[in-house]
Formats: sequence, structure tokens, C-alpha cells
Amino acid sequence: MLSLSDIHVSYGSVLALKGVSVEVPTGGIVALLGANGAGKTTTLRAISGLLHPTSGTIEFEGERIDRMPAERVVRIGISQVPEGRQIFTELTVMENLRLGAYTRRDRGVRQDLERIISYFPVLGERSGQRAALLSGGEQQMLAIGRALMAKPRVLLLDEPSLGLAPILVGEIFEIIKTINREEQLTILLVEQDASLALAFADYGYVLESGTVAVEATAEELRGNESVRRSYLGY
Ligand SMILES: Nc1ncnc2c1ncn2[C@@H]1O[C@H](COP(=O)(O)OP(=O)(O)O)[C@@H](O)[C@H]1O
Ligand SMILES: [Mg+2]
Repeated sequence: MLSLSDIHVSYGSVLALKGVSVEVPTGGIVALLGANGAGKTTTLRAISGLLHPTSGTIEFEGERIDRMPAERVVRIGISQVPEGRQIFTELTVMENLRLGAYTRRDRGVRQDLERIISYFPVLGERSGQRAALLSGGEQQMLAIGRALMAKPRVLLLDEPSLGLAPILVGEIFEIIKTINREEQLTILLVEQDASLALAFADYGYVLESGTVAVEATAEELRGNESVRRSYLGY
């Protein structure tokens, strides 16, 4: 469904990705793992059109997207939940959710709002409050809900567990898994917490200094002690 082939991305003279290839199959959950600075966020930003690779290709359902502006990438069905959530804290919960639908021209927005609130009931309960008043976990739910309002077929999640209490993280991941199953939503999950990510993903890639060091099914990665020790830190 989504295919990155030998992409290189640089920030000025800093080469952040040096030939990364990743395949994300329809309906799958793929984890992108690796230490701080390995290139995980850069990979997501290249997919979502916020950065453009200097070489290599990115295809979504057979169409080249690596030169598309970010807004068009959202419109064709790829939505990113950015690192650090980046919600609009001065706007209400409902206003944040509605902003997620700004690229849409169809009539299903109201229905989608109801559906997303059914996954994250707290967003309904607090819909009129400023987003600043939500807890960290609720803000992460809002960031995911906002991304879902774009009606994506692929959801890119950047470190959803960062800074959250483990119990909340578990809750959020369960909801993500439910949405994946019920709606055939394809997920590319960036996580520093490898053990957590591999409990949810089908397949995993480990990035190291801008290249793919290891890739395998989540089961193989979980079961391989030397991979775990060298790359996953658990
Ligand atoms: N805006 C930027 N300008 C220059 N270098 C950057 C920028 N963003 C990231 N980098 C560098 O690119 C590399 C990959 O970063 P990033 O993709 O953010 O890693 P990760 O998400 O895996 O922690 C790092 O060496 C980082 O320092
Ligand atoms: Mg990052």
C-alpha cells in the first residue's frame, strides 16, 4: 500500500536518511523503531510531504507521492499524528477535531465526529473545553482524533507514548488496535519503546543512523535476543 524505496533525505548538509526502504501493507501495523536521532520522524515527514527526499521514491497505492505538497498527501489518505501532539491548546476540543477535516469536501464529517468520539468518549465529554485543560493522555487522544478526522487510510503515529503514564499508553494502544481492526486502517507507528510497539505491530523496522539495520516480523524481533539487546534496548 505504502512503499518507500531507497529514500535519502537531508537537512542542508546533514544527511538524515541514507537509503531507507519500508513496505507497509494494507491493514497492517508496522513499527519503525530506533534510538533518538535514528531518522524515524524524518521518515514520517518524508511520507507526509513535509520533507522531500533528494533521491528514492515513495509510492502510495502505486502513485508517486514524494513530490506532492503535504496538503495533497492528506487529501489522498495519509494523515500524521506529529511528535509532541501539536494540538491547538487555545482552541476547544471540538474545534481541534473539526480542523482535522479541513481538507475534506464530503458530507461525512458529522458522522465521523460521532464515530471518533465513540472511540474516545472523553473527547465528547470535554468537547467545549479548551484543549489546554486536557491531560497529556487526553491531548494524545485528541491529536489522534484530529488526524482521524481527515478520513485517512494510513495513519502515521510519531511516539504516541511519549511522556504518558503506562496505563494511559496501554489504553491508547488498545483503541488504536481496535480502529485498525474495525476500519482496516493501516498504521505506521514510530516508537522508542520497542517492547510496547512490538506487542501491537505485525512487522518492524529498526533504524540506525539513517539506514534500516534490521527488519523482521514483530514476532521474530521479539524473539531474537541479540537483536533485542543490540538494537531495542530491552
Ligand atoms: N530540522 C533539522 N535540522 C537539522 N537536522 C535535523 C533536523 N531534524 C532532525 N535532524 C537530524 O536528523 C537526524 C534524524 O532525526 P529524527 O528523524 O528526528 O530522528 P528520530 O525521530 O529517530 O529521533 C538526527 O541526526 C537529527 O539531529
Ligand atoms: Mg522523532
